[in-house]
Amino acid sequence: MTAPSDKPPNDQDKQGQSLWGGRFSDKPDALMQAINVSIGVDRKLAAQDLAGSRAHARMLIDQGVIGAEDGELILRGLDAIEGEMAAGEFPFRDEFEDIHMNIEARLSELIGPASGRLHTARSRNDQVAVDFRLWVREACDHTLAQLHALQQALLAKAEAHADAIMPGFTHLQPAQPVTFGHHLMAYVEMFGRDASRFTDARIRMNESPLGAAALAGSPFPIDRHATAKALGFDRPTANSLDSVSARDFALEALSAASICATHLSRMAEEIVIWSTPQFGFIRLSDAFTTGSSIMPQKRNPDAAELVRAKTGRIFGALTSLTLVMKGLPLAYSKDMQEDKPPTFEAFEALDLGLAAMTGMVADMTPDTARMAAAAGAGFSTATDLADWLVRTLNVPFRQAHHITGAAVKRAEALGVDLPGLPLSELQALEPGITDGVYAVLTPAASVASRSSYGGAAPDQVRAQIKRWKDLLA
Ligand code: ARG
Repeated sequence: MTAPSDKPPNDQDKQGQSLWGGRFSDKPDALMQAINVSIGVDRKLAAQDLAGSRAHARMLIDQGVIGAEDGELILRGLDAIEGEMAAGEFPFRDEFEDIHMNIEARLSELIGPASGRLHTARSRNDQVAVDFRLWVREACDHTLAQLHALQQALLAKAEAHADAIMPGFTHLQPAQPVTFGHHLMAYVEMFGRDASRFTDARIRMNESPLGAAALAGSPFPIDRHATAKALGFDRPTANSLDSVSARDFALEALSAASICATHLSRMAEEIVIWSTPQFGFIRLSDAFTTGSSIMPQKRNPDAAELVRAKTGRIFGALTSLTLVMKGLPLAYSKDMQEDKPPTFEAFEALDLGLAAMTGMVADMTPDTARMAAAAGAGFSTATDLADWLVRTLNVPFRQAHHITGAAVKRAEALGVDLPGLPLSELQALEPGITDGVYAVLTPAASVASRSSYGGAAPDQVRAQIKRWKDLLA
C-alpha cells in the first residue's frame, strides 16, 4: 500500500474534532458537545466495538487493503485497549464524543499513524450498527438463559405441588378449583412463548451490517461474508442503506421484552395478592421481602411490586425507540444515537425482573392447607353440579345451569356450602338428584375430573411438567 503520509491532526483547539475536523476552523459550542456526546451511554458497547474492529482489521489485512505490518500494529493496539478497559484504566473522554472515536483516538495515541488505516472502508454508521446489533443479540441470549432458569424454578415448584388444590379464579372471584402446580405451569407456558419470541427476533437480527460503510457500500475489495462469519452472524445484510438505517432488530427485541414484562407483572401481582394475610396462599422468604420502618408486623413484597413496576420502563423504551425511528428518512440520522439509552435501560430492568422473579419462585412456600380450604369456598364446585345433572340426568346444560344457580341461592340462604346442602333441598329443585351427586362436589373430585388435555387434573399437570422438562433439557 502507499507510504504513510498520515499526520493525525492533534490541534489543541480542535481536540475531539481531530478525527473529523479537517474542514472546520472553530471548535464546537459547549452546548453542541453537550447534546452530541454519547460516551457516557455507549461506553457499554466497548467490547462489541473492539470485536467489530478486530474483525474489520483482520479482513482488511486478508484482502490486502492494509499491509500486514500496520495490521499487526492495529491488532496489538486493540489488545492493549482491551487490557486498559479490563484494568479500568481506559481514558473515556467526552471530547471524543462516542465509543468509536474514543477507541480510535486512543489507538492513535498508542500506535501512531497506522491507527488511521483502521477506518478504511468503514464508517461510524456501520460501526455503530454492528456494535448495537451485537449488544442486542447478547441481551437476547442472556434473556433466553434467564427465562430458562425461571421456567426451571417454576417447574420444580409445580412438580412439588401438582396435587395441591387451590381456587382457580375468573374476575378474581372463585371459579373452579385447580392446583398450585397447574397455576404455576400456566406461567411456564407464557415464559416459553416469550423465549420463542426472543429466539425468533435473534434469527432475524443475526445479519452483519459491517461493510455497508457510510450508506452506499465500499469501493475497497472488502469481504463482508468474512466479517459476518467472524462476528457470529449468519450472513451480511443485503442492502447497504438498510444496513445503517435499520433498528427494527432492537424494536423487535424490545417488543418481546415488553410482552415478557407484562407476564412478569401478572405473576408479580399474583404474588402480591397471594402473600397478603387475607389470602395467605404463599409465604415469601426474608430474602425477597422488606419490613416497614414504622409498622413492626409488616412483611412487604417489594421485590414483586418492583418487578410489576419495571414494566413501565420496558414499555417506555419500546415507545421511545419507536418514536425516535418513526418518520426518519434513509439512511443514518443522528436521531438514531437515541436508540441506546432506552434499550440499555429496558434490558437492565428485564434482567432484574427475571432474576428477582426466579429467586422469589424458588424461595416461596405455599400454605397448601389454606389454599385447599379456600378452594372449597365460594361454591367453587357449582359447575360440577351442573355437569353432573347433564351427564347423569341428561338435563340440557342451560337448564342444569339454572337449577344449580337455584341450589347456590338456597345454600347461601341456609349459610352452607354446596356439599353441605341436604339432599332434600337439592331434590326440591330437581327430583332426579340422588346422593351420588355429593361425590362430585368436593374440590379434589372437581380437579381430578378435569382430565381433558391441558386440564387441571394432576395427571394432566404431571404430563405437561414432563413435556417441559424434556423440552428444557
Ligand atoms: N454515536 C453515534 C450513534 O450512536 C455513532 C454514529 C455516528 N455517525 C455519524 N454519522 N455521526 O449513532
